[in-house]
Amino acid sequence: MARPRTASRLILGLETSCDETAAAVVTPDGRILSNVVSSQADLHARYGGVVPEIASRRHLELVTPVVQEALAEAETSLDDVDVIGVTAGPGLIGALLVGVAAAKAIAWARRLPLAAVDHLQGHVASLYLEPDPLEPPFLCLLASGGHTLLLDVQELGGKPRVLGTTVDDAAGEAFDKGARLLGLGYPGGAEIDRLAREGDPSAYEFPVARVPGLDFSFSGLKTALLYVVRELPPAELESRRADLAAGYQRAIVRALVERTRQAADQTGATAVAVVGGVAANSELRAALPDATAAPLALCTDNAAMIASAARFTEAIPYPGYLALDAYASIA
Ligand code: KG4
Ligand code: ZN
Repeated sequence: MARPRTASRLILGLETSCDETAAAVVTPDGRILSNVVSSQADLHARYGGVVPEIASRRHLELVTPVVQEALAEAETSLDDVDVIGVTAGPGLIGALLVGVAAAKAIAWARRLPLAAVDHLQGHVASLYLEPDPLEPPFLCLLASGGHTLLLDVQELGGKPRVLGTTVDDAAGEAFDKGARLLGLGYPGGAEIDRLAREGDPSAYEFPVARVPGLDFSFSGLKTALLYVVRELPPAELESRRADLAAGYQRAIVRALVERTRQAADQTGATAVAVVGGVAANSELRAALPDATAAPLALCTDNAAMIASAARFTEAIPYPGYLALDAYASIA
């Protein structure tokens, strides 16, 4: 007997923009039924960063089992899925193409519509999921490995207005490069976060670059750390590593908090939110006690946030998306 089609219209989300192969099943009202993330971090660690070609190949191996696992964990099947949401950009082009091709194939085989989701709007949409969804308007600090943005979010869908961005490195990139200088593993943000708890943040004062407007700059900070590290004999570097991590982290957090507060003052925003991988940082979360931080599991790349954003993205009907392309930079 044919399985009766349930009334629940589920969204299957796919995310492959960097080094996480992820799939998730989300309900139209924002409940996460499954959220599977297969990180390739270990694969890239020995290179100190993501190797695009390796990432693409690994996505190709993982995407089908990850989708299957997401459906199994949600105790559902493609029969109950009504729309596929996939990250179309920005990100590593080869990595994105794997997710987009997989999403197209699933959608096409099932005659389903496909929603091409912007990765950054995906991060913002991590705030719209149950059990504690946030409603716009709010000011959003998006700090990840690829971007640092202050966004004026006025509505659930659509493109938010960019109030500020980084003029050089992204905040997560600053964490990763700092970690590398300190001889810590990749990705470095979580490592610095952990080590900083054992250090004295006032032992080293790192400068917070001042750039006009609401923009950020982190490259000077990285250079400042490089100079300190270069001058320290190896044994001393070992004993000062935690202090250096604490001072370095404090400078990044200060820059992020200062600018976010300024943006809130300028726009009169009453609600402030923080999303992206760096939003997982414990010092940042503590430094913005009144802000809504994305749930920890949804800070770093995942597909639940992509499925969430798909709810507010106009889906392309079958089979119009076969011509859909991925894009590497902000559209
Ligand atoms: O959002 P995400 O997973 O990927 C991009 O879209 O870029 O962010 C990854 C970034 C990495 O740079 C990583 O070092 C940073 O988020 N990150 C952290 C923490 N956890 C991840 N940075 C600071 N503290 C953390 N606890
Ligand atoms: Zn991301």
